[in-house]
Amino acid sequence: MNKYNYLNLGCGQTFHESWTNVDFYSSHPAVIQCNLINGIPFEDSRFDVVYHSHVLEHFSKEDGEKFIKECYRVLRSNGIIRVAIPDLEQIVTHYLKAMNDSLNNIKNAEDNYDWMMLELYDQTIRNHSGGEMAKYLFQENILNEEFVYKRIGIEGKNIRKEYLKNKSNKIPTSSYVISEKSFVQAIRQFVKYFISKLFHSSKDYPVDIKQNIEIGKFRKSGEIHQWMYDRFSLRRLLEKNGFRNIEVKSAHESAIADWKTFNLEITDSEIRKPDSLFIEAIK
Ligand SMILES: C[S@@+](CC[C@H](N)C(=O)[O-])C[C@H]1O[C@@H](n2cnc3c(N)ncnc32)[C@H](O)[C@@H]1O
Repeated sequence: MNKYNYLNLGCGQTFHESWTNVDFYSSHPAVIQCNLINGIPFEDSRFDVVYHSHVLEHFSKEDGEKFIKECYRVLRSNGIIRVAIPDLEQIVTHYLKAMNDSLNNIKNAEDNYDWMMLELYDQTIRNHSGGEMAKYLFQENILNEEFVYKRIGIEGKNIRKEYLKNKSNKIPTSSYVISEKSFVQAIRQFVKYFISKLFHSSKDYPVDIKQNIEIGKFRKSGEIHQWMYDRFSLRRLLEKNGFRNIEVKSAHESAIADWKTFNLEITDSEIRKPDSLFIEAIK
């Protein structure tokens, strides 16, 4: 039995052992392996707190709403939900500034512009782990290094530090795997495709089915962003699904008892994901 009746969904490598932790992938006994697209595997009103950080954007808009409904279901009455998410408002604001500065030939603005395009698009459209963002972080010299670290914080710094140490193009914290279930689904799709080929003799466009399956597997693995939120759309989503007292917080403040002791959003006194919007609400 955990000391706290708190739930961390899509925890990745950032979890507290006294909580209940869930992710697609588990490399620690304190993390339960589960695909949250199929729902949250707990009974109604089970938890005092439901928390997820940089997870909601990995679901489509439709699945994101189902996920929020599930959060509501497993939270007890008056329980707290805390959501951390890349902040679309911040991204767009930085993008516009970088674009205007670039047009005005302000020093380094073009690098900031390129980085903001990666935040906007690469995280959504990439077909392989790390995408263009990893390439950017693994350059010999990053001209706007300070700006990039202000955006992605200590995690980005560590990825680059590790790369420079090993000169390896692997992202050290990557934890994306494909579940057995989705592998079986992929095989089914593959068989369906060949059956459909038997009945469609028309000149189809040429496809590299193996490559497409690889891309599909990657895009279903939980790494890519499928939707984005800001303080308006996240509030609307929470409100629509029954939550009340919706408040924007900082990484340091929370109504969750003992929040600061868990260090989920602060590492070495720094905000772990400074590009975040943090919102809390009550069931
Ligand atoms: C960007 S990481 C965030 C990890 C952690 N919460 C944090 O703040 O660092 C997104 C996490 O969501 C998990 N995830 C994405 N889709 C998922 C799904 N359908 N079911 C369970 N976990 C999922 C991924 O495995 C990954 O660990």
